[in-house]
Amino acid sequence: MKNDLLLRAIRKEPIERFPVWLMRQAGRYMREYRDLRAREENFLSFCKNVELAVKVSLLPLELLGVDAIIIFSDILVPLESIGVKVDFVEGEGPRLEWSGKVSELKRYNPEDNAFVYEIIRNVKEAQDEVPVIGFAGAPFTLASYVIEGSSSRDFRKTKLFMWEREYDFKKLMEILSETLYRYILKQIEAGADVVQLFDSWTNYLSRNDYEEYVFPYVRELINRIKSKTDTPLIYFFKGSSSFIDLAKQTQADVLSVDWSVDLSLEAVRNDKVLQGNLEPSVLYAKEETIKFKTLELLNGIPRKTGYIFNLGHGLAPDMEFDKVKFLVDTVKGFRIN
Ligand code: CP3
Repeated sequence: MKNDLLLRAIRKEPIERFPVWLMRQAGRYMREYRDLRAREENFLSFCKNVELAVKVSLLPLELLGVDAIIIFSDILVPLESIGVKVDFVEGEGPRLEWSGKVSELKRYNPEDNAFVYEIIRNVKEAQDEVPVIGFAGAPFTLASYVIEGSSSRDFRKTKLFMWEREYDFKKLMEILSETLYRYILKQIEAGADVVQLFDSWTNYLSRNDYEEYVFPYVRELINRIKSKTDTPLIYFFKGSSSFIDLAKQTQADVLSVDWSVDLSLEAVRNDKVLQGNLEPSVLYAKEETIKFKTLELLNGIPRKTGYIFNLGHGLAPDMEFDKVKFLVDTVKGFRIN
């Protein structure tokens, strides 16, 4: 591949500049995404339309010049196979339905997500510029969608389920972990160069609850994947400063952290490769501010490799494309010496 900066950074090899890609880099903030999206009525059929999903995956490489492609899909995609109905309601977000009985969930069949592996193969075939990132939700973040049935403000149902139906909660976490293990290995088999697990809502948990109800499953999942393959794995988890010492104990190659972590300190005390962690809201500011905040972050990184620029969470639909492009160009213009 012509540009393997991301892989070299992960292997801690010399790099001339820090690699950059952005979570949710293919999305509604792009006119070209909205045009393609208009061709399918609902979001899930859009994800399952291999030809469109491949085109969307390639947009950030073509329009932003990022150093990695994350395949276009969604973390909720594998849930259908275990018997959870998933729907996306325009302007409202995801809606999930199931019997509510953990014992009635089905065994995951990876073939139900064959379209995802095909998207990976086709994105690999369509370009040999940059590495391709496969992904999945982490067990807790998926469990929270299954339990809440939608996005949530406070994760109240999830917490009550966890505290008062502990047996069922742990059973659900086991089912999701097994599902994700098989799903991720299939993505790697299809050609993903790197995989990322998204634990997007762990910031709502106390340290004790993370340690008891979340960490054992995600650690086991990561370690099981890593015992089968050398493919680099990135663990993204919110509330990062509270849990980073635990995350460090997994076999994840890269820890992707939010802006609660001071990377200038963390890069000194942590030997894992780090990814992150610009506050997404910086993108609402004027270019001068974006440049200042980005250089402040990059100048603070005390290492010459083992670091990947990203945001501390994903891009939002109401961000301006030109500012996102300006951010990418700012990172690419920063030389390591
Ligand atoms: O990063 C990328 O560009 C790859 C594609 C990607 C999407 N979702 C596309 C998408 C990835 C990696 C995700 C992950 C995802 N999905 C996460 C974890 C990352 C994070 O931001 O924390 C979560 C929590 C979800 C669940 C989800 N999917 C939500 C909350 C929504 C928004 C619902 C809404 O309408 O606002 C989605 C839908 C979704 N996934 C969209 C995109 C581009 C927008 C839907 C559309 O285009 O109609």
